Order: sequence, then structure tokens, then C-alpha cells
Amino acid sequence: MDRTTLLAHARSAALRAHCPYSHFRVGAALVADGQVFEGVNIEISSFGLTLCAERSALAAALSNGSHTITQVAVACIDAPPEAPLGQRTPCGACRQWLADLAPDALLYIDGFEQVFTIRDLLPHAFGL
Ligand code: THU
Repeated sequence: MDRTTLLAHARSAALRAHCPYSHFRVGAALVADGQVFEGVNIEISSFGLTLCAERSALAAALSNGSHTITQVAVACIDAPPEAPLGQRTPCGACRQWLADLAPDALLYIDGFEQVFTIRDLLPHAFGL
């Protein structure tokens, strides 16, 4: 799937984010075994238990039995246009999930042209 289309999926998923505390909507869309899966950030009253959009999308794919993840797109639709990359890239926990579950996927960040892999974002990742 082309990058623009997958990012459009991520942006449209973000409209369904459940983020009553931060009001910072994030959507993720990924391609796994040729199928698109989407995820959103889900916040609950115990803030530390928040689920990020990336992990939500990864869980959706694996729950469906789709394991080979080739592309992941992330959109932080409430980030201001001038927000730096660090305000739009996956958090540390999501990076570890990506390192484990999508080690070879191409990563697209809405608003940035550069294409990453998780090795760029999490060098020397832990693994078993
Ligand atoms: N968030 C994500 O969904 N993905 C990330 O990688 C970074 C942060 C969410 C968590 C929380 O709901 C909101 O963005 C603000 O931190």
C-alpha cells in the first residue's frame, strides 16, 4: 500500500481516539499480511494504563491472526503543524512493541517525509 493511503487511514482512525484526558488524538494504521488494521489511543481514569494507538493497532492485527507487519503509519492529528518529530513519533513502550512485532516494517509519521524502521528509532533494542 502506498504511504499516502496508509497515512490517510491513520488520520481517519485518529478521529475515533478515546482521549478524554489529554485530548490528543492519535491514530495508527498498519499493513499485516496484506490487510489494514487500525488503532487509536485509549485513555482511562488511571492514566498510566493508557493504550497508545500503535499498540492498539498491533494488538488488532495479532488478534486477527495477522503477524507479518510490513508498514505502520502514525498520525497525531492534534499536534500543531510545527510540532517537532519528537511530538509525533511512537513512545518508548510502543517502540519496544514495534521492535518485537514489526521489526522490518516501514514506519510513516504524518507530517514528515522521512521513512523510518524501528531500528532507526530504537537502536540496540532488547529482544529474547
Ligand atoms: N500516544 C499514542 O497514542 N502514541 C504514542 O506513541 C505517544 C502517545 C497517546 C497516549 C495519550 O493518550 C496521548 O497520546 C498523549 O500522550
